[in-house]
Amino acid sequence: MTELTITTPDDWHLHLRDGELLANTVPATAEVFGRAVVMPNLVPPVTSVEQAEAYRQRILAQRPPENNFQPLMALYLTQNTSLETVRAAAQNPHVIGFKLYPSGATTNSDAGVTDVDGLDNVFAAMAELQVPLLVHGEVTTADIDIFDREKVFIDRHLRPLMQRHPNLKLVLEHITTADAVAFVESQGSNVAATITPQHLLMNRNDLLVGGVRPHNYCLPILKRRDHQLELRRAAVSGSPKFFIGTDSAPHAQSKKETACGCAGCYSAPAALPLYAEFFEQMNALEKLEDFASGFGADFYGYPRAATKVTLVREPWRVPEVVSTAVGPMVPYWAGNLLNWQVK
Ligand code: DOR
Ligand code: ZN
Repeated sequence: MTELTITTPDDWHLHLRDGELLANTVPATAEVFGRAVVMPNLVPPVTSVEQAEAYRQRILAQRPPENNFQPLMALYLTQNTSLETVRAAAQNPHVIGFKLYPSGATTNSDAGVTDVDGLDNVFAAMAELQVPLLVHGEVTTADIDIFDREKVFIDRHLRPLMQRHPNLKLVLEHITTADAVAFVESQGSNVAATITPQHLLMNRNDLLVGGVRPHNYCLPILKRRDHQLELRRAAVSGSPKFFIGTDSAPHAQSKKETACGCAGCYSAPAALPLYAEFFEQMNALEKLEDFASGFGADFYGYPRAATKVTLVREPWRVPEVVSTAVGPMVPYWAGNLLNWQVK
């Protein structure tokens, strides 16, 4: 196969950041993807519908000419999120749901949730109004090893949450473990998961063997190979519960290559070719389209795109560095070859 034409994909988990960097991040995604769920972990966080509307306008202002990219805004759930905000979100066509960051779990999560069970009335309203909850599933307490944080979050918080609210529409974001795959598979069709390219293509050896690789450092952290293999199985299984979500998370090179580096892989410049690389490795390129362009839209209740994109099998090297408004940035997979490129 030398060409692959698929329905235009969507990115169901994306960080665009704000300010002058939008001039780089918005086109990088909009040139390939039709829609993206835009994460709200700005400073200050996007906690209200009004803030999300204003942020959406700043994003739209950076769309390339004649591009119809649609940002779908996630609101940042806090311990103070009110039922009014849930109702306002349910009524707003540009807001897709709420993002739950456990406080301290990752970049700009300080304002996140400290007591999941204390938000039960909010979750009840979300279930009733069918407003999706997007979850960063990691506990943050010092007694839990960083490699166990996803599993413990599922056992401690997610299973009980789904028992209390069996109709809650829930996306477990950027899953990294066999435990997460099993949890999602054990639930009804209202529970799904996104999977990033780095968690499909890499495991923790790629982070730590032969030296620390800061550009492969993201959260939840890459896990051992057995977990990677289970994610790979789930992604090609044809189950509609697993779909694309790059978690492309740009940080300046100076913030990654430093004594205390930021978490996040800037995968947007190569996102679709990275997934194509994975599906080709699995001999399952025919499964790419549903994963990238179908199951996410189906889950969230959007029509699949009416447009197409074409990938060609012409190897190319991901740039070592890309220049952005906040300085040089090292994209994920920098300097390495990919077999597919977007035509
Ligand atoms: O690696 C990550 N980077 N994981 C997250 O959850 C957040 C993201 C970011 O915003 O940089
Ligand atoms: Zn993220």
